[in-house]
Amino acid sequence: MADEIIEDDSVDKDAVLRALHHVQDPDLGRSIVELDFIKNLRVCGGNVAFDIELTTPACPVKEQMEEQARDLVMQVENVQNVAINMTSRTRQVVDIRGGIPGVKNAVAVAAGKGGVGKSTTAVNLALALIESGAKVGLLDADIHGPSIPIMLGIADGEQPDGEEVDGVQRIYPLDRFGLKLMSVGFLTQRDNPIIWRGPMIGKMLTTFLSSVIWGDLDYLIIDLPPGTGDVQLTLIQNTPLSGAVIVTTPEAVAGEDVIRAGKMFEKMGQSIGAHVPILGVVENMSWFEAPNGERHYLFGEGGGARIAGTFGVPLLGQVPREMGITQGGDSGIPIMLSAPHSPVGAVYQEIAGGVARRIATLAMESGA
Ligand SMILES: Nc1ncnc2c1ncn2[C@@H]1O[C@H](COP(=O)(O)OP(=O)(O)OP(=O)(O)O)[C@@H](O)[C@H]1O
Ligand SMILES: [Mg+2]
Repeated sequence: MADEIIEDDSVDKDAVLRALHHVQDPDLGRSIVELDFIKNLRVCGGNVAFDIELTTPACPVKEQMEEQARDLVMQVENVQNVAINMTSRTRQVVDIRGGIPGVKNAVAVAAGKGGVGKSTTAVNLALALIESGAKVGLLDADIHGPSIPIMLGIADGEQPDGEEVDGVQRIYPLDRFGLKLMSVGFLTQRDNPIIWRGPMIGKMLTTFLSSVIWGDLDYLIIDLPPGTGDVQLTLIQNTPLSGAVIVTTPEAVAGEDVIRAGKMFEKMGQSIGAHVPILGVVENMSWFEAPNGERHYLFGEGGGARIAGTFGVPLLGQVPREMGITQGGDSGIPIMLSAPHSPVGAVYQEIAGGVARRIATLAMESGA
């Protein structure tokens, strides 16, 4: 807008808002005007400009919403130009225990069973959230064999910086591909593993976690070790979680384990008086696609959907079994970075969008 144009009333602001009333947030089922998403509405002659402030940068319907808003406002009397600025302010799921400083939402990635692709999911989910414009951290809490530093190409011996300020230890996460990374593996030398035992785990992990200076994060993704042991317990008790993503493979055995893991979140949530909602289910290694395009369902079909149904949560996505994913894990450059626009990249984007939407919905419901 040129400075010399003097604001006049040729376009009626109220008429613009009335038009925008017809744009709904699909998850919240309410108008974006009612939800107070319209910010900085300016009218100058026939020019209209405003921001739409979404609840997450990873909103999968961002483009549709912008287009719908533009079409509707263009139909308002005297409007010649519409400038829309899509912004976001990630909402926080309110937790009675207070959060990790600077972290809006901590999300645990969990599975009942080892080897189902939890770490792979955590890494690619975190990178997909970054791709959508969010500030993201990744905490590798798997004390049994931290694999995330390898998946992200962290050299052996590379350690986060630390310092002591007024007698209090501070640890600064590594920065990798824009991701703030911390691993419990950094606590130990890789060739000198500490034997982690029950009570010690809790204490060390709690001290360690409280020392990490994350900075401002929209999402902190936490890769949990498999099962329902001490680390999970400590984390759930000490870390206010916005929710958990459950990873499974399609076959039945993984399904039963995963239901146990999911129940753990529900039960522990009750025992500490805080609800840890399950955000959704990721089905990994759903099928293998032959070079002729034919899909082979090696572990059966429908396991992820069944588990999602059991918990009454969405199936966030189905990730095929693909060499590129294994290679991405081994090479230190995850598939979400090497091939973000591939079909698998699109699945991770869909998963990230689903997680962000569920958190936004829960946050809005909790009054954030
Ligand atoms: N969709 C996939 N396609 C191909 N390979 C995959 C896929 N998902 C995971 N993998 C590979 O399977 C192996 C196990 O995956 P990952 O380490 O992510 O599992 P995990 O559940 O974290 O295991 P753990 O229980 O040991 O922590 C890795 O080598 C990984 O690269
Ligand atoms: Mg793992």
